[in-house]
Amino acid sequence: MKTILIIGASRGLGLEFVRQYRHDGWEVIATHRRAVDGKKLAALGAETLILDTTDAASIAAFSEALGKRSLDVAIYNAGVYGPREASVTAPASLKDFDSVMHANVFGALQMIPIVAPRLIKNKGTFAFVSSMMGSIGGMTGPHGVTYRASKAALNAVVKAASFEYASKDINAFVMHPGWVQTDMGGDGADITPEVSVTGMRKVIATATTKSNGGFFNYTGEEIAW
Ligand SMILES: NC(=O)c1ccc[n+]([C@@H]2O[C@H](COP(=O)([O-])OP(=O)(O)OC[C@H]3O[C@@H](n4cnc5c(N)ncnc54)[C@H](OP(=O)(O)O)[C@@H]3O)[C@@H](O)[C@H]2O)c1
Repeated sequence: MKTILIIGASRGLGLEFVRQYRHDGWEVIATHRRAVDGKKLAALGAETLILDTTDAASIAAFSEALGKRSLDVAIYNAGVYGPREASVTAPASLKDFDSVMHANVFGALQMIPIVAPRLIKNKGTFAFVSSMMGSIGGMTGPHGVTYRASKAALNAVVKAASFEYASKDINAFVMHPGWVQTDMGGDGADITPEVSVTGMRKVIATATTKSNGGFFNYTGEEIAW
């Protein structure tokens, strides 16, 4: 049985990843922050671990609880958008900017030395849910500058990790999930979590060492950095 770790699984895309991998018979380790979400995830048959990726004590406890288990796949899905009204002309406060960067970038970076060694035995995949909004080459407008900066920085972190772990045959890459109907994406978004996660699971399932260091749409195409 294959084992996957899903970081940030309480709702939206993370919860859909749990549903689909459980449906396919995977052993799923799902992280959450609130007790009520743990019950929801356990009801789907997932093993649950508490993790707030912006809290050092929580990260230490999570690492301890994960033990020496080997993983086949890990997904860093946790993310926040930050204040919607912040812009290039009216930047977010330093506190708001830092909290977005902490969850989306430093949180992900801190997971790498904890999670990647557990992927080595199975030559596994570490996929990070980024966003098209983090693409500098594909940028089409100024809105969401804080979030854009955080996802561009996440992309840089994952690219650096791809070099670090290439000799261990781990695939580390980032994915754009599409514009998805979740709390973050809103009801008017293009696609459902089911469609997005089905696509991202295919990207993960078909990953080879050539995927290492890549940036992929949920439909499989490569995205400009
Ligand atoms: N929806 C879209 O259209 C879209 C588009 C592009 C990229 N994305 C990316 O896709 C990922 C999932 O987004 P979503 O749409 O499912 O958003 P969502 O419904 O807002 O869910 C965000 C998830 O991240 C978790 N999270 C946030 N901060 C965390 C932290 N510090 N520690 C641990 N978990 C944390 C949340 O946990 P709590 O429930 O505890 O808050 C929740 O499970 C994010 O990385 C997002 O940036 C989404």
